[in-house]
Amino acid sequence: MYTIPTFSVTQKPRAIAVLTSGGDSPGMNPAIRGVVRAALNQDIRVVGIHRGYSGLITGDFEEMNSASVTNIVQRGGTLLKSDRCLAFKDAKVRQRGAQILQENTIDALVVIGGDGSLTGAHLLCRESGIPVVGLPGTIDNDIFGSDDTIGFDTAVNTALDAIDKIRDTALSHESLFLVEVMGRNSGFIATHVGIACGAEMIVVPEYEVEVDAICFQLANNRRTGQGSSGIIVVAEGPEPGLTYSLAHQLEANGQIAKVCILGHIQRGGSPSGHDRVLASCLGASAVDYLCAGYSDIMIGVQNGAICDTPLKHVIANKKPLDPTLFQRALLLHK
Ligand code: ADP
Ligand code: F6P
Repeated sequence: MYTIPTFSVTQKPRAIAVLTSGGDSPGMNPAIRGVVRAALNQDIRVVGIHRGYSGLITGDFEEMNSASVTNIVQRGGTLLKSDRCLAFKDAKVRQRGAQILQENTIDALVVIGGDGSLTGAHLLCRESGIPVVGLPGTIDNDIFGSDDTIGFDTAVNTALDAIDKIRDTALSHESLFLVEVMGRNSGFIATHVGIACGAEMIVVPEYEVEVDAICFQLANNRRTGQGSSGIIVVAEGPEPGLTYSLAHQLEANGQIAKVCILGHIQRGGSPSGHDRVLASCLGASAVDYLCAGYSDIMIGVQNGAICDTPLKHVIANKKPLDPTLFQRALLLHK
């Protein structure tokens, strides 16, 4: 499934710590398991850090062994728990975290999280010199340097399962639904789910919402015998309330629309087979890269190959939504 790089071991850490940070995602547990099992196979001590950077700066640690990660590959969420620790934006707080790692003879850190977590990882590494490797753990799939992120496939399938059910009642009552999916700043979930569920329209933060175009498309659907029921998939966007606002604008144009907010259901559930394989491979590769002397990188997948991208590039760039894919989605419902 993936081309996995191999390396010779140049500097084996005495101990590797691993944490999950930011919005959790299905697949974080297989990633943790990959790190733990790969490190133990190299006789490297593994320390699990609870609650992301909050646990790092308070020394909330757990010695991990093979049994620690038994029977978790199929479980959603993260057994190490996650957190949003705003204090970590303070360099002095990061310095304290680095000091705690050194006091516990931890020579390297694996951070599993989204762009915010990877920013914290880069700063910690640059400021302390402690080798850090990041893994893209977010359902949003909006991480530069990787075609995929841990949790994206599961979230798409979770949303798709819900929308297929909504489609049943939309058809029964010939009604229009605006279904909101997650993605504050990116439309990857909305675009993939929109294509997969045959949505009439897709609304993403990357492109301006055109209510007139939506009304025209819906009227056209009615004219061409596609009926008046339909699903419009809406990415939540940066401001709350977008989908209800869109429903009100459609109503002002004579188009009644029901709203369904999928919300945090997309963040849970048993990780898909795809996410389990992706997360396990990335987790194990994190150990390989660290033992080969790599640091301040994110390990992702590009064109089917596991590869590394400097964290400074990951956090400095926004991953673009492929316009062709988005246009293809719209074309499929002309
Ligand atoms: P995600 O990692 O899912 O994007 P957040 O953006 O909430 O989630 O980031 C998670 C955590 O990463 C934050 O709570 C904070 O501890 C750390 N973090 C985020 N941005 C920064 C930053 N600019 N500097 C240092 N740490 C950061
Ligand atoms: O970053 C992942 C994500 O699920 C986004 O898609 C969503 O907008 C955000 O986290 C919600 O975060 P929280 O659950 O912390 O409010």
